[in-house]
Amino acid sequence: MASSTGEVPTSAGFDYDRLSELKAFDESKTGVKGLVDAGIVEIPRIFIEPPENTMKPAENGDTQFIFPIIDLREIDGDPIRRKQAVDEVRKASETWGFFEVINHGVPASTLEEMLEGVRRFYDQDPEVKKKMYIRDKTRKVIHYSNFDLYSSRAANWRDSIFCLMAPDPPQPQELPHVLRDILMEYSKQTMKLGFSLFGLLSEALGLSPNHLKDMECAEGLGLTCHYYPPCPQPELTLGTSKHADGNFITVLLQDQIGGLQVLHKDQWVDVPPMPGALVINIGDLLQLISNDRFKSVEHRVLVNRRGPRVSVAGSFSTGFFPSSPRLYGPIKELLSEENTPKYREITVREYSAHFIAKGLDGTSALLHFRL
Ligand code: OGA
Ligand code: NI
Repeated sequence: MASSTGEVPTSAGFDYDRLSELKAFDESKTGVKGLVDAGIVEIPRIFIEPPENTMKPAENGDTQFIFPIIDLREIDGDPIRRKQAVDEVRKASETWGFFEVINHGVPASTLEEMLEGVRRFYDQDPEVKKKMYIRDKTRKVIHYSNFDLYSSRAANWRDSIFCLMAPDPPQPQELPHVLRDILMEYSKQTMKLGFSLFGLLSEALGLSPNHLKDMECAEGLGLTCHYYPPCPQPELTLGTSKHADGNFITVLLQDQIGGLQVLHKDQWVDVPPMPGALVINIGDLLQLISNDRFKSVEHRVLVNRRGPRVSVAGSFSTGFFPSSPRLYGPIKELLSEENTPKYREITVREYSAHFIAKGLDGTSALLHFRL
């Protein structure tokens, strides 16, 4: 979700000059936080979602579904614990496409400091942030509001900083100084956890532990720090519209505010904030190479009068090295007469171009590549 789009913006279908309002917002370079800091009490209409998108699920409040939480303690030392974790990862990846991990090895202090770093960045003087506000896909570090601002039907109540951390990290001085050290540390820890997760996911598919790593799934990491300011009219807009992720997996750190929901059995289910936990979800590329065994599931973020809410999405993908000629298709070892390939082979570049052009419109980018 990193890049900006090159599309021609449109006002078609709106009874106002949407393009001018989008441009005015973008050119202010102060993002959604700038609106909130200015004290607005009504949200600008560019943010208003069609009502069917913001409807809350029926207030049942009970725990009809138990969101999967997987304990990674001792998975490298104890074969029984490992088998249990592999089984749980398989089950969650096949049904929810989402799970939370605890005892994952990333120190709680690193998680806390990472969230704090994002808050520090946004608490800076607007003039400092404006200098970094830029829509340029070729940069490794950018700050912007809504990567698909000009192509989506409604802007999201969210500002973001994207940093491409692997395989070629930016020069430290390219990173905002208020979160430079913690970004480097958090990235290192996330890479380590990613390696471990791709091992578990490979075994969960019945493959050798290195299979997904050998396919370079763990090589590229982009970190997007999201900042969701408090919203005066939360029922009219969304923090992030319904979408599935266009990568292999996402490792998501969220604070305690809540708002992330996953679509499970046709219902929006809260992904419960839990101190010290990380949320893992399967992206489209892993669904594709697993031939639909693991599910890339749609999710969204509701906004809140309380806030800001802060999250950091670590995206494992090779889409960041656009020249990679490597083709990804359903893994041969998983195919059989009963399980024939459901997708054609594609480069991540081809996939990413389609994902970005399409924007977060609620449909799956995978459909385009289905056989
Ligand atoms: C994403 C995403 C959720 C969140 O970045 O793809 O779904 O809680 N983020 O910010
Ligand atoms: Ni997502």
